[in-house]
Amino acid sequence: MEENIEIKKAIIPVAGLGTRFLPLSLVISKEFFPLVDKPIIQYIVEEVKKSGITDIVFVISPKQKMIMDYFKKSPELEKLLIKRNKEKQLKDLNEFEALFDGIRFSYVTQKMPLGDGHAILQAGKLVGSDPVAVSFGDDIIDSPEPALLQLMNIFNTCKAPVVALKSLPKEKIPAYGSVVVEKIASNLYKIKKIIEKPESSQIESNLVVVGKYILTPEVFGYLKKAKPSEKGEIILGEVFEKMLSEGKTIYGYELKGEWLECGDKSKWLKSFLYLALKDPVFGKELKEYVKLIK
Ligand code: UTP
Repeated sequence: MEENIEIKKAIIPVAGLGTRFLPLSLVISKEFFPLVDKPIIQYIVEEVKKSGITDIVFVISPKQKMIMDYFKKSPELEKLLIKRNKEKQLKDLNEFEALFDGIRFSYVTQKMPLGDGHAILQAGKLVGSDPVAVSFGDDIIDSPEPALLQLMNIFNTCKAPVVALKSLPKEKIPAYGSVVVEKIASNLYKIKKIIEKPESSQIESNLVVVGKYILTPEVFGYLKKAKPSEKGEIILGEVFEKMLSEGKTIYGYELKGEWLECGDKSKWLKSFLYLALKDPVFGKELKEYVKLIK
């Protein structure tokens, strides 16, 4: 029997321009927009940690220092809170910092926003020759079993790249990466084709690509060789398409859980509302309040 490969590293690319959030994204990257009382990126990191990952490599843009400040301890603030007897705030700070005990963060810079594939490639040196998990900075899955763990379990049976999928109503699919698949087990598919932003006539399934993957060293080999698209970007979906055209196997797994997208204003607001109304502290009060809005 083949050995289980433990995936311990995850890449989180957060160097995109976030143009769908202009003008907000001029100074704050979208990963720092809040969902209820914490930024999007914290949900992503919590999900990654719950999946058993111990090393996180962020791919950041040259001006994005905020993320480095966020995920580090604040001993000066802690001292001040102790001195001023701010016990509740001290507890909040300590709880936040404890969330990331045992996680090693590292950072690589993507000098220019040349595409999601290019961003992932920048982290290649830090991940070495092991398979690695990838989570984009704006796709959250609310589920009892964390999303990357679901993909890691599939990887351990299939030993080939795994792409996260979700199903959507047909009319929404033209805005996404659509897949042509062959079903091989419950929720599990062999991907035959990936079509970015398909025409209606090209749509053959309800499944679309979510920004979470397990990548093998072979994918990094293809990323290295990839030529930028017409727009000057290296897109992971296109690299997968090249692999498929050369007969490589890529699996797709339809994730269990609620997909909370945050890539544009209306998706982010819906995800905010979903989490706010379900929140154990604020949910009840907000539901009452929403009923009163005319
Ligand atoms: P998106 O497709 O959401 O692109 O990136 P974007 O640039 O962030 O946003 P828009 O389309 O301009 O509104 C998916 C993920 O890949 C990262 C993003 O930060 C996001 O986590 N990314 C994208 C990079 O790190 N670098 C890039 O060059 C492009």
